[in-house]
Amino acid sequence: MLGPLLLTASRSDRLRRIVAASPLTRSTVDRFVAGEGLEDCLTAVRSLTAAGLDVTLDHLGEDVTDRAAATATRDAYLRLLDELAPLGLGGRAEVSVKLSAFGQALGEGGHDIALEGARRVAEAATAIGTTVNLDMEDHTTVDSTLAILDELRRDHPGTSPVIQSYLFRSEDDCRRLAAPGSRVRLVKGAYKEPAHVAFQDKAEVDRAYVRCLRILMEGGGHPMIGSHDPRLIEITRDLARRTGREAGSYEFQMLYGIRTAEQHRLVGEGERVRVYVPYGTDWYGYYMRRLAERPANLLFFLRSFVPG
Ligand code: FDA
Repeated sequence: MLGPLLLTASRSDRLRRIVAASPLTRSTVDRFVAGEGLEDCLTAVRSLTAAGLDVTLDHLGEDVTDRAAATATRDAYLRLLDELAPLGLGGRAEVSVKLSAFGQALGEGGHDIALEGARRVAEAATAIGTTVNLDMEDHTTVDSTLAILDELRRDHPGTSPVIQSYLFRSEDDCRRLAAPGSRVRLVKGAYKEPAHVAFQDKAEVDRAYVRCLRILMEGGGHPMIGSHDPRLIEITRDLARRTGREAGSYEFQMLYGIRTAEQHRLVGEGERVRVYVPYGTDWYGYYMRRLAERPANLLFFLRSFVPG
């Protein structure tokens, strides 16, 4: 019940202003966000990669409403890639972009504006030996995002999409994307979706995840398991054994600040693990989705408003 309410709240500009203005929110946001500045992000990159984890970096922001903001997002990623270059991490440090922050929803020309911005970022990523992941947002954006993926992959084949198991269409998308060389992140899905496009029941979403996972693990691509769910992690490792996949031909991905000990445990057992590291000032939507995933996080957040 709380989850859907929080997801609705994640799209409210009024609440965004109230929550973002409270100094008390800061300490709870820090658990999920590496910091507001580029330097904070780079500090996290250095420490995570030194511990054997790979990273994918998200300059926070989504749903921009004008072209200048879309350009600012693109430039923020170009600066990030400039700063990553001297670290020499190559594909160990990739970037994750939300196309709505590149102008995807700017009416008529939005799709092309987002494509051109993402193309510039993909060129800069390729130049330093890394790749771009296209995060997946609500279901109305999936066709446009997958079309942009196909365009970018012509010159930048390492570009990856995210597939959300809660969408009915995702098994078909996985079948199409499970080709040699294709990197695909599989997640459960974090948006509030209507019943005509997505499973509403958690157990059904989990079962759909396993069906998609099987398609990706049995295919020729590089599956990226974006989940903290212990059961799905075990199923992945079991499928890897059964399909004869070596560690490194697939990878686990988890969010910054969530199940950190598990991230290190898996690396210790020889698995490849990539941490999704968000940074920047526009953390509201991202943060609210993390609260929605786990009601206990909301209690933690509310407690920060109680004095003493
Ligand atoms: P589930 O929600 O069942 O959680 C399993 C366990 O993980 C919980 O019991 C708890 O221990 C822990 N956990 C999960 N979420 C937590 C939280 N917020 N706080 C504390 N503990 C938590 N979605 C999307 O729609 N588009 C996208 O592009 C992406 N990208 C993405 C990248 C990566 C690397 C990850 C890991 C996830 C995403 N997601 C996403 C989010 C995804 O869709 C999903 O909402 C979350 O991963 C939570 O689902 P789990 O699979 O972790 O399982």
